[in-house]
Amino acid sequence: MKILMVGSECSPFVKSGGLADVLGSLPRALKKQGVAVKIVLPKYQEMSEEWKEQLTLLGTYRVQLGWRNQYAGIESLSYDGITFYFIDNEYYFKRSNLYGFGDEAERFVFFNRSIFEMLRIIDWIPDVIHCHDWQTGLIPLYLHTHYQNDPLFHKIKTVFTIHNLKYQGIFPTSILHELMDLDYQVMHEDGVEFYGNINFMKAALNYADKITTVSKTYAEEIKTDYYGENLDGVLRKKSDQLTGVINGIDTGLYNPATDKVISVNYQQSFEEKLKNKAILQKQLGLPVNESIPLVGIVSRLVEQKGFDLIAKVVDEWLDHDDVQLVVLGTGDDAYESLFRNLQYRYPRKVVVVIDFKETLARQIYAASDLFLMPSRFEPCGIGQLLALRYLSAPIVRETGGLADTVTSFNEETKKGNGFTFKNYNAHDMLYTIRRALSIYQNKQTWQKLIVNMADSHVSWDDAAKTYLEIYQSTVS
Ligand code: GLC
Repeated sequence: MKILMVGSECSPFVKSGGLADVLGSLPRALKKQGVAVKIVLPKYQEMSEEWKEQLTLLGTYRVQLGWRNQYAGIESLSYDGITFYFIDNEYYFKRSNLYGFGDEAERFVFFNRSIFEMLRIIDWIPDVIHCHDWQTGLIPLYLHTHYQNDPLFHKIKTVFTIHNLKYQGIFPTSILHELMDLDYQVMHEDGVEFYGNINFMKAALNYADKITTVSKTYAEEIKTDYYGENLDGVLRKKSDQLTGVINGIDTGLYNPATDKVISVNYQQSFEEKLKNKAILQKQLGLPVNESIPLVGIVSRLVEQKGFDLIAKVVDEWLDHDDVQLVVLGTGDDAYESLFRNLQYRYPRKVVVVIDFKETLARQIYAASDLFLMPSRFEPCGIGQLLALRYLSAPIVRETGGLADTVTSFNEETKKGNGFTFKNYNAHDMLYTIRRALSIYQNKQTWQKLIVNMADSHVSWDDAAKTYLEIYQSTVS
């Protein structure tokens, strides 16, 4: 089985969010299942020189976008036994950021169209193209339009994965002729049309052979009005083609027993883990005291993540409870200032680092006792998986992948690997935090929780098998 993965970011080359983690680790897990996987990405300026130096130019070609005829270079490198291709066009990708430009439609129409021309050059025709998020949404559509009569592409099937339904790639109809070289034939409800605009994600949902999303619960949620982002109707219609497959993490890379960037390696021992806490408390200038519970937040600071719940009850919480909070992340100004302000007001309890540092992130996972992730919605979530791996008990809202990976600890049965609450309600969250803090006082019980966390399934093994079945189902 030959799979070409297409996405707009991938660790370790370029990353803005969880999508990069998935593209950076799923292919290796698929390879273990005997799948031949290759990956294609835009060649962004943001990629470090270390990688750029390793690239080999395989060929160049032109890509048609309306009246434009654009250069494309195809460059490649091999990393961890996997081939990565990078589409080069400096006009589109030599910029200071990955996303957020006025010509986003043009950049990604170019990227999607360039994939087909690239396949001719690399002379490797996949059985399935696995597309991720709206930035690759036109690939299934192009297979059914521009390339439908091309014998080279005749047998290719497509799988499209939704990592976040909120970002859809919505653009004015004018791009249909100007950039996409298509006519009004596709401008209908079962095509690309979306409230008078063009929607890349909708194009993918309508033309892909299979649709997946990154947890079973999110796969159900997005068929409802509340989570459906105005595509719930399409998703209900397509529900036979839609599967939820939970993400994993690379358990070789993220392993508290061997991770070189954390201070003290540990396995299932609370005592050993605590040594990391003392070191981080000291490093961050917090009172060094192992009995004060340390709560970590490592996240993009955006609305999705539920920070308005924290804003609502944080004073009530920090004024009364003996607790420390460490926050790492970047994002919207409002949330960055919310946390900066907290640090200012509670200097002995709160440390905020507005940045993204992989090393510090892992040290926080290793040092913290609890990991707070009260998301409004969460397709899968990777933070809670990392927290489980580093034995920091996740406190989460029961939504999407959080609901599928964290079960609430029950003091009677001693089952459960974290703490959960159902409603998007600040006091329900605070109540749950306090329940966790009180259980923390009993070391024996906490050690049991630690063992439960260590027993949680967070690897890619099961998911890779499921993806293989999905690929097979498209070609049989
Ligand atoms: C997006 C989602 C997140 C998911 C990630 C990878 O970032 O918001 O929940 O874990 O994609 O699938």
